[in-house]
Amino acid sequence: MKLLPLLTFAGGLSIARAVTVYGVTGVVPQTALSGPNSTPSPVVAVYVPPAFNETTLDVPAIPDPAPPTQFTLQLLQNAQDVNGLSIPQSGAFYGFSIEMSVATQVIGINSSFLNPPFLNLMSLIVERAGHVNIRVGGNTQETAVLVDSLSSGKIMEKDKEASSNPTLTPTLYITPEILYMLRNVSSLLNARWYLGIPMNDTNNPRLQIGEAAEAILGDFLLGFQLGNEPNLYAAHGHRPQGWAQFDYFGEFGVMIQAVANDDKIHIRNNIIGPSISDTFWTTESVWDTGFLQSYGNSLSAISVEKYPNQNCAAAFPSPETADQIIDPQREFPHYLNHKERITDTLAQYLNSSNIAQAMGKPFLMFETNTASCGGFLGLSDSYGAALWAIDFGLQMAYSNFSGSLLHVGGVSDVYNPFNPPQTNASGFSQWSVNPIFYSVLAVAETLGRTNASKVIDLQANTGDIHTPAYAIYENDKIARLALFNYVSDSTGASDSTVAIAIGGGETGQPNGTPASVKVKYAK
Ligand SMILES: *[C@@H]1O[C@H](CO)[C@@H](O)[C@H](O)[C@H]1NC(C)=O
Ligand SMILES: *[C@@H]1O[C@H](CO)[C@@H](O)[C@H](O)[C@H]1NC(C)=O
Ligand SMILES: *[C@@H]1O[C@H](CO)[C@@H](O)[C@H](O)[C@H]1NC(C)=O
Ligand SMILES: *[C@@H]1O[C@H](CO)[C@@H](O)[C@H](O)[C@H]1NC(C)=O
Ligand SMILES: *[C@@H]1O[C@H](CO)[C@@H](O)[C@H](O)[C@H]1NC(C)=O
Ligand SMILES: *[C@@H]1O[C@H](CO)[C@@H](O)[C@H](O)[C@H]1NC(C)=O
Ligand SMILES: *[C@@H]1O[C@H](CO)[C@@H](O)[C@H](O)[C@H]1NC(C)=O
Ligand SMILES: *[C@@H]1O[C@H](CO)[C@@H](O)[C@H](O)[C@H]1NC(C)=O
Repeated sequence: MKLLPLLTFAGGLSIARAVTVYGVTGVVPQTALSGPNSTPSPVVAVYVPPAFNETTLDVPAIPDPAPPTQFTLQLLQNAQDVNGLSIPQSGAFYGFSIEMSVATQVIGINSSFLNPPFLNLMSLIVERAGHVNIRVGGNTQETAVLVDSLSSGKIMEKDKEASSNPTLTPTLYITPEILYMLRNVSSLLNARWYLGIPMNDTNNPRLQIGEAAEAILGDFLLGFQLGNEPNLYAAHGHRPQGWAQFDYFGEFGVMIQAVANDDKIHIRNNIIGPSISDTFWTTESVWDTGFLQSYGNSLSAISVEKYPNQNCAAAFPSPETADQIIDPQREFPHYLNHKERITDTLAQYLNSSNIAQAMGKPFLMFETNTASCGGFLGLSDSYGAALWAIDFGLQMAYSNFSGSLLHVGGVSDVYNPFNPPQTNASGFSQWSVNPIFYSVLAVAETLGRTNASKVIDLQANTGDIHTPAYAIYENDKIARLALFNYVSDSTGASDSTVAIAIGGGETGQPNGTPASVKVKYAK
């Protein structure tokens, strides 16, 4: 099931009209693009990029064996009696990662022209969590260059064709205006920024973006992500073949030293790394270089990036990879359970989240989403993906990550939580909001505003992977539960009935099972 674009923010066109336009390939009658009473005029061709493609998948079969439909959660009242609770978490756990090259499509054109729909979407998070964390970076941060101005009058100039292909890295020119734009967002709502700074050339470190960002963003700057996915540098042709963990260790040190020598940068301990994904390098293999011991004092957080799957053969087709294209329909059931794309994906990080905790550093999932290389059409933009993202977020919180950023790319990416209209379509298509945006709201509400929510995976229903549940202990008392049912069954026969009992006191008394609870559905 795919949620239709739900929000229209400007102009007088109805939602249905926007849907009509998104669904059509090729030629669209002009009447679909203008007001109801306008005179039909000549047809125009409308290209529908993947982000706006409405393909849906079939509902997967009911799992066999089906999960038991009735179970009991017997819970304890006080956090002190519960083993395995997470570290305290904030409602702003989920934030967004905006690919640097699309910042001016998503956030605004310049500091005095911000996109109201973007502000509205971010306000929804701030309302629930108190603030929202946003990273501007990604592969395109690596070749970014700060210039005073551009002859076009724009604040960023790039080769938009290559924005999501990591092996093509056109120079991305940006002006300080982009930083004023971020600062202006923060003057309207409580948004805080992680900024990517380049590490493509450590013989000639470019720290100008960092220098300007510190001065312009001030307290709204959370830190600098130094380098993006260095584990892929050699594979993507940005370093010689054979360039490996110790080479990275050395080059990272060169950059840390360059920051220390830069008298226009005053904060010396807000660097974030290593931002590796798990291709070719394990996280431990970076720790084993001495990275954390050597650079710990410079790091404000330890970061990794991980998508539970990839769709690269489809996104960048080649004769060699044609047989590796993954069918989204076959992939779908693997997202609709608590194990394959959730706990299996995160298991490799538990050691590192413990190490980070012992060092007193936040451990961040700096970039994630359903699948890298743009996601799976029909899956990444489905209600099922929304359930996956809520479960994944709460599982990361339970696993002692301190935050996670859902990636927002360009129009070739189908996993975007929201899409600005295509530049030449702004008059009719407006913004669209995808299901995983709602996951961010759900996780924010589940964790609340106190920064004092500890999360536990309850292994509910004797650990059945289709009906996971979490408990949230807030300020040391049980406060909320999050219950899932991944089974799609329109007959109602697979609905879950959950009996909840909270020990420690009489039902209806302050220390017992509450006489009533408030329920919210994500459906
Ligand atoms: C949507 O994607 C599917 C699968 O790639 C393709 O067959 C279809 O033509 C696309 N639709 C549009 C409107 O581009
Ligand atoms: C809109 O932009 C796309 C992509 O650049 C292009 O293919 C299409 O022809 C444009 N449509 C119109 C109506 O200009
Ligand atoms: C910002 O962009 C808007 C819309 O293109 C334009 O009217 C305005 O002059 C720009 N402001 C600056 C300071 O460049
Ligand atoms: C790094 O990026 C800059 C700016 O895009 C580019 O000029 C330079 O050639 C790149 N250096 C390397 C070694 O890739
Ligand atoms: C946004 O930035 C411009 C230029 O930097 C400034 O004049 C304006 O007051 C700012 N607006 C807000 C709402 O902060
Ligand atoms: C955790 O990581 C450290 C550092 O790489 C390593 O020495 C240790 O063996 C790892 N422990 C486990 C259980 O993987
Ligand atoms: C998370 O950290 C807490 C507090 O140190 C610890 O008790 C718990 O076992 C950790 N959880 C995981 C999944 O490692
Ligand atoms: C939660 O943490 C944020 C970020 O550190 C902080 O700004 C906010 O004031 C905290 N909220 C509460 C209720 O302590």
